[in-house]
Amino acid sequence: PVPVIIDCDTGVDDALALLFAVRHPGIDLRAVTCVAGNTDVDGVVRNTLTVLETAGAPAVPVARGAERPLIEAPRSAAHVHGHDGMGDLGLPAPRRTPADVDAVTLLRREILASPRPVTLVPTAPLTNIALLLRTHPEVTRNIERIVFMGGAAGAGNATPVAEFNVWHDPEAAAILLTAGVPITMYGLDVFNRVVVPAAEVHRLRASTEPGARLAGDLLAHRPATPGSAPGDPTEDAGGLGDAGALCAVVDPEGLTTHRLPVEVSLGPGPARGQTVVDRRPRIGESELHEGVREQCLVDVGLDVDVQRYVTLYLATVEGGGPG
Ligand code: BDR
Ligand code: CA
Repeated sequence: PVPVIIDCDTGVDDALALLFAVRHPGIDLRAVTCVAGNTDVDGVVRNTLTVLETAGAPAVPVARGAERPLIEAPRSAAHVHGHDGMGDLGLPAPRRTPADVDAVTLLRREILASPRPVTLVPTAPLTNIALLLRTHPEVTRNIERIVFMGGAAGAGNATPVAEFNVWHDPEAAAILLTAGVPITMYGLDVFNRVVVPAAEVHRLRASTEPGARLAGDLLAHRPATPGSAPGDPTEDAGGLGDAGALCAVVDPEGLTTHRLPVEVSLGPGPARGQTVVDRRPRIGESELHEGVREQCLVDVGLDVDVQRYVTLYLATVEGGGPG
């Protein structure tokens, strides 16, 4: 299995990603680190621990990370993910507490201790990852790839042009893009497209197995149409969201990527937090100056095999137990 570490802001769709990671036999989930985003970081830690317990993986180490972005003021996303960050589902409190080390320390320790290079999967604002890369740059020698949910080549969601995870902490995202390791961007161009049909969501919700049932309840809180109200009973189909980035780790063939220069817009004003993806057809390597060619070429997901990822997701979470 691929050693994977998830950095998340659980979060309804982060929870879907955790359930998948725990249950896929091709993933060795070595740690989960938490960052403020969908809700405050203590809420994220609590949600993450509860989801891992429900999924049958109570031993995966979980650490608390950054409370706020590097420079931006903290912002609430309660209007999207409910006050608990989990669609106000009323999940039980977790039985255990997080690791006694912070997220950056746990990330460093687990990355360097892994016998095989780690695939890092951030599904949240990139604050923890930026702090890790700046504090312990040696970790990049044991990172195979970073597959992150964030950014958009087309329309944004937090603003007309910026995706939430990048917009929440643009400087951190800029640091990630210059990490010098292979990067896959699982952005809004594909993120919103992988939707589980209502009939499958109903079947999951009726399951007697707690992890599969939780997946169904979470999907029912993911409006298939961006903009419709969370939990709207007429909108039972549910988007996989962040979980699609985990599908891309185990099944990269289902994601069509193009290697393109990407830069985060860091200035003030309406474009702040935009991932500027250079899709000009005639741009050649010779037109890029050295720094850009070395550091900012990203494998940008521009198309996704929706049916393939939906089938993969359902087969995995209904598979029963940790992989
Ligand atoms: C991202 O923002 C969060 O609300 C989701 O969990 C996802 O990671 C989408 O823009
Ligand atoms: Ca997320």
